[in-house]
Amino acid sequence: MIVVKIGGSLITDKRRYRTFRRSAAEKIISVISGENPAIIVHGGGSFGHIASKRYELPGPLTERNAIGGALVKNDMADLNNRIVSILIRHGIRAVGISPFTLFNGDTMDYSPVTRTVKSGFVPVIYGDFYTDGKYGGIISGDDLMIEACRLEKPEKAIFLSDVDGVFDRDPKKYRNAKLISKYEKHELNFNTVKNDVTGGMDRKFRSMLQCRALGIKTYLINGNYPERMRDTGSENFMGTEF
Ligand code: ATP
Ligand code: IPE
Repeated sequence: MIVVKIGGSLITDKRRYRTFRRSAAEKIISVISGENPAIIVHGGGSFGHIASKRYELPGPLTERNAIGGALVKNDMADLNNRIVSILIRHGIRAVGISPFTLFNGDTMDYSPVTRTVKSGFVPVIYGDFYTDGKYGGIISGDDLMIEACRLEKPEKAIFLSDVDGVFDRDPKKYRNAKLISKYEKHELNFNTVKNDVTGGMDRKFRSMLQCRALGIKTYLINGNYPERMRDTGSENFMGTEF
């Protein structure tokens, strides 16, 4: 049993507002559906980040940006619907659950998620807008992965992104960046490199460490090659194992 996050950079074109990458989503889901997913998480990509930035979210809610919160919530529900439809076509009893609706003004109440799993269905949760009426927050799919691990104690937590794994520095900037196939605490030079990574990867890295700290084998895999998910634990595996 696995929990998996599909990065927004895979299923959307991050530069163009609300651009869905259907064939990439189909390819990823065809592999996920064979891996016994307990909870599926996805990111926002251009359905989440562009409008959030435009409306200065996360941040205090104002007359001007509250409408942006509603827009982000709706755009994310739209992306979620598309993902859930594909999952259902692949035979997964997928049920989309908006984290907006889980927020009780103070914390997230994940009981609808656990109830869904208990009933034999697969919750599909995602990075979302949430609010107590005063502050407009954005919960990331990477943080939801930590919760999914806490709730379901899966065998594996798989993060799918658009890179081959965690490198000693940004592989998109440095051609000779080295892939870290197995992250161990004793790889001290990662610390210096950590300061070099973008906030995005830095945050994802911390989420992956937290999943690992829960005793769950955690992987970062390039979702452009979703079949790599099948090789976790084997010698042929391509990605980073935590
Ligand atoms: P997702 O991967 O969930 O879609 P995202 O698009 O926001 O989310 P990021 O959080 O930005 O992705 O993380 C992926 C990016 O991090 C890669 O495309 C890569 O360019 C960058 N990156 C920076 N430093 C590193 C590093 N040391 N190892 C791997 N990737 C890195
Ligand atoms: C972002 O979720 C959600 C919103 C901006 C509403 P993520 O942070 O998990 O999305 P990606 O994977 O980086 O695109």
